[in-house]
Amino acid sequence: MKVLVVGKGAREHALVWKIAQSFYVDKVYCYPGNAGIAEIAEIPQIKEDSVQAIADFAASAAIDLTVVGPEDYLAKGIVNEFSRRGLPIFGVSQEAAQLESSKAFAKEVMKSADIPTAAYSVVTTMKEGEAVLKKSKFPVVLKADGLAAGKGVVICETLEEAEKELAEMLGGKFKSAGETVVIEEFLKGEELSLLLITDGDSVKNFLFSQDHKAVSDGDTGKNTGGMGAYTPVSLGTDELYQKIDKTITQPLLAELKRRKIVYRGILYIGLMLVEGEPYVLEFNVRFGDPETEPLMFMLVSDIVPYFLSAAENTRFFKHQNPPVMQLEMLPDFLWHQGYGISVVLASKGYPDSYEKGKVITGLGEKSNDFTVFHAGTKLSDDGRTVTDGGRVLMVTTSGKTIREAIDNVYKNVDRIKFDGIQFRHDIAFKELKRESDANR
Ligand code: AMP
Ligand code: GLY
Repeated sequence: MKVLVVGKGAREHALVWKIAQSFYVDKVYCYPGNAGIAEIAEIPQIKEDSVQAIADFAASAAIDLTVVGPEDYLAKGIVNEFSRRGLPIFGVSQEAAQLESSKAFAKEVMKSADIPTAAYSVVTTMKEGEAVLKKSKFPVVLKADGLAAGKGVVICETLEEAEKELAEMLGGKFKSAGETVVIEEFLKGEELSLLLITDGDSVKNFLFSQDHKAVSDGDTGKNTGGMGAYTPVSLGTDELYQKIDKTITQPLLAELKRRKIVYRGILYIGLMLVEGEPYVLEFNVRFGDPETEPLMFMLVSDIVPYFLSAAENTRFFKHQNPPVMQLEMLPDFLWHQGYGISVVLASKGYPDSYEKGKVITGLGEKSNDFTVFHAGTKLSDDGRTVTDGGRVLMVTTSGKTIREAIDNVYKNVDRIKFDGIQFRHDIAFKELKRESDANR
């Protein structure tokens, strides 16, 4: 099989890395890709970064399966385009992608399906907003409706702060993404993520994972796209999986069906555990970044049959090997024992403005026990790997215990250098605390 992965971050590097190990896969392409991905996949020349041009490439190169990473391609309808043309693709349709591309839509669906989530109002004018805020308890959470590159959620401590923020959002701070704003009750608890794959009927859960959104140690400083992640999370008991399936996943799939939306792809459930009870903070319609990196590192199962079973246009797949099975017929995912962990190495200044083009050293070392997924890198004209983004690298490894995983990952972090490097020193600190509390 020939597989194309769409995207250019560390999540896509991890997907390419895992897909390349598949028993069934001969060749992996990745577009647009980055310098790290280029070491293990071919980066095709495509005339422009559009859904149509990517479909043209997939057709002309006879790609057997395309796997989509980022939400913006899904929201632009890449899956609809491939479907129309009979090309096999794994990812959700544009209609299903609204669950991420419109927070007001997601809240409305949750309300109809009686899914536990924070109480909310949707506003489009200052007058409506002020009326809601006057009655709100603080802190309150303001969310720009549309896609805002992970920056559209602001927690406001006071009425004044909330009014100022609302005025900025409605005034165009996030362009059209902020024309509609969700005002939401603040939930207090512990956050964790559950990713799953579904064909609209059956579901296979990945392990629970936990992201670290704040830029600095101890969850302080600005919000980022994520500074590190680990899996599994010991809070994620069998009972919690069952509760989420019963109160969130099944009602959601049923509600979407009622609306004639078939959900085939990845569902990312961002959860807040409030006194042990799961509430939905957000749905994403794709793999999480950085959660995917430790998840792929820990996954034993070949992921390709799972993608095929939930993809479009694979029912009459020309290959007998693998035969396309129904998702329901595939076993639950198998995992390595222990913990997977990923630490993000970022550029100085991130998540605000940062410089690019810094030479990276220490990437030479390779081993089966750890890997470095590239987020923002490129090859300079003289062939050196240089920084090319806010998040640059994700050092990923595992350990039998969380302590061992943490020690292993930071040992490898210390080998890598570039000018202005910044990273968190405390990834997985909550799990470490739970472990030491349990041993006390
Ligand atoms: P979202 O993009 O909706 O996941 O929001 C980004 C981050 O804001 C989440 O990861 C939470 O840390 C925080 N957040 C979002 N909604 C709430 C809420 N209702 N209560 C408390 N924190 C929230
Ligand atoms: N880890 C957060 C996200 O992927 O949106």
